[in-house]
Amino acid sequence: NPFAGNTPQDVTERQGENAIFIVYKLNQSPDSVEKVKDVCANFSALIRSMRNRFPDAQFSSTISFGADVWDRIFPGKGRPKELEVFKEIKGSKQIAVSTPGDILFHIRAKQMGLCYEFASIIDEKLKGAVEAIDETHGFRYMDGKAIIGFVDGTESPAVDENPYHFAVVGEEDPDFAGGSYVFVQKYIHDMDAWNALSVEEQEKVIGRRKFNDVELSDEEKPANAHNAVANIGDDLKIVRANMPFANTAKREYGTYFIGYASTFSTTRQMLESMFIGNPVGNTDRLLDFSTAITGTLFFAPSYDFLGEE
Ligand code: HEM
Repeated sequence: NPFAGNTPQDVTERQGENAIFIVYKLNQSPDSVEKVKDVCANFSALIRSMRNRFPDAQFSSTISFGADVWDRIFPGKGRPKELEVFKEIKGSKQIAVSTPGDILFHIRAKQMGLCYEFASIIDEKLKGAVEAIDETHGFRYMDGKAIIGFVDGTESPAVDENPYHFAVVGEEDPDFAGGSYVFVQKYIHDMDAWNALSVEEQEKVIGRRKFNDVELSDEEKPANAHNAVANIGDDLKIVRANMPFANTAKREYGTYFIGYASTFSTTRQMLESMFIGNPVGNTDRLLDFSTAITGTLFFAPSYDFLGEE
């Protein structure tokens, strides 16, 4: 295989029905590192067990690590070329903030109960080694829509477009072949402002039809539509698995953005196009209704790399 014989984690799966995103901070003590290494060494077995117990549940999970803890967990093994603490992107309207995070779990399954089951197994194993930074529960909404009512994920590379090519590191960084750069951002939407737009105006923000997901024609699509701004070329794609989340009583409505990429520079270029604009000033209209409250970069090593610990 093109990943020097390494098996990637489940970085090209579809969004799924339910997801739990957990971001942990790693504690300072050396035994914290030992606990994490133990989870790494057993990670594929833990997933295998879930799939064995619930064969029809479309269960998957990834584990990934931030730049601040990489050398503690994998000492002497070098570092993926583009793994760094995410540097914030300051646009004229909004900042793509950088927020802390050492370990990310992205857990997907048909039933939320199975996501919880796996999360609780992991959390038990990591007791004392980590502190919670964030946990977000995402759900599939209608026909795969973001909470703002538009189908999300359509142009994300799938089976026929070789998603591994876009999501997984290859020969360009041989020591880390089979790994993937994972970028997450938690967005909160201003639904009052969004709902005040007509459907036609909303369609111009996204660049697609609300009812049936059909793309607007080049004539209809404004230059600052989200899918115009985020499309930076056919060779520069990432695999997205965003999920809506909500707390209706608190009037909190959001999108948990997650993108897996073979090079982080691709994801970063998309973010710069959205927040700064290309040309400068052509910022993403979607950002007028969406605020990024987190932004963290992780690296999901191959199963082989995880197992070596
Ligand atoms: C396309 C939603 C953030 C990259 C889309 C589409 C929707 C959407 C509805 C059109 C359907 C599709 O092709 O998936 C959102 C929401 C976001 C968000 C609600 C959070 C506020 C981002 C971010 C990035 C991104 C942060 C990149 C870092 C893309 C790309 C496309 C896309 C590459 C496909 C463009 C094309 O047609 O080629 N997004 N998105 N999105 N989005 Fe986002």
